[in-house]
Amino acid sequence: MPNTATMTKPAPAAPAVAPLHPNLRIPNVITIASGKGGVGKTWVAVTLVHTLAKKGYKSLLFDGDLGLANVDIQLGLLPKHDLGSVLAGTVSMADAVARYTDGGFDILAGKSGSGALALLSGDRLNMVRDGLAALARRYDRVVVDLGAGIETHVRTLAATAGIVLVVATDEPTSLTDAYAFIKVTAMQHPGTDIRIVINQADNAREGRRTYETLRKACEQFLSISPPLAGVIRTDSKVKDSIRAQVPLLIRYPTCNAAADVEAIASSLLVR
Ligand SMILES: Nc1ncnc2c1ncn2[C@@H]1O[C@H](COP(=O)(O)OP(=O)(O)OP(=O)(O)O)[C@@H](O)[C@H]1O
Ligand SMILES: [Mg+2]
Repeated sequence: MPNTATMTKPAPAAPAVAPLHPNLRIPNVITIASGKGGVGKTWVAVTLVHTLAKKGYKSLLFDGDLGLANVDIQLGLLPKHDLGSVLAGTVSMADAVARYTDGGFDILAGKSGSGALALLSGDRLNMVRDGLAALARRYDRVVVDLGAGIETHVRTLAATAGIVLVVATDEPTSLTDAYAFIKVTAMQHPGTDIRIVINQADNAREGRRTYETLRKACEQFLSISPPLAGVIRTDSKVKDSIRAQVPLLIRYPTCNAAADVEAIASSLLVR
């Protein structure tokens, strides 16, 4: 159960950050957020973009986690450029994009240890956002892996997306943190299309129960009811493929977790 201490009614005070103008949203961008770390955001981002590419969509995976970027680690890549070099001004964002041939999609790698997103100046954050908007015009879909946490910058970047997927597991801290993320995002960026992914569920039924717990808290305290994008079952093949640094869809394309992500991808394409 989420910690109800953090689920009090939102205070009616004006948000600290101005709401995002809907026109600033980039419709074909899907951001992956969570609140709590380690729930599977990076793996979901990699597998989702891979699924979209396999479906024939021209897709980009954008690693927006500057603190612990690890898209390249999960895929066993050694990127020449990354978002860190873009922010340092040594390369343009477009030139930092690399082709991941095996997956059929493009990647803009992050930069581990280059300082968390939260530490960027407002100008730098705008630079990332504008660069993302410009890049997104070249693709059918862009999937952004965000860092954990609910800091303003993470939320600002999350809310520029057409769809924000909030990943949670059934762990109470994960649910509480997902709720906190949804709460501040919905307050400061009203109208954001937030959807929930329950990851590492024992089975579909348990996953839907976990979702209901979160949804009810959102309905009761925030008067919103974010839909379920999907449930992803715990699958030992996920760990196996991450350990081998080979994408799940190459190593085990028909396993349970792959099927669950495929179902989520299909639901996102309907919009
Ligand atoms: N469906 C799943 N089945 C089994 N294991 C999973 C599943 N999803 C994620 N995991 C495990 O969770 C671990 C953490 O995943 P991942 O690195 O993608 O999380 P994260 O949310 O990006 O973490 P961080 O907040 O540190 O960036 C993986 O290494 C994997 O072992
Ligand atoms: Mg991650």
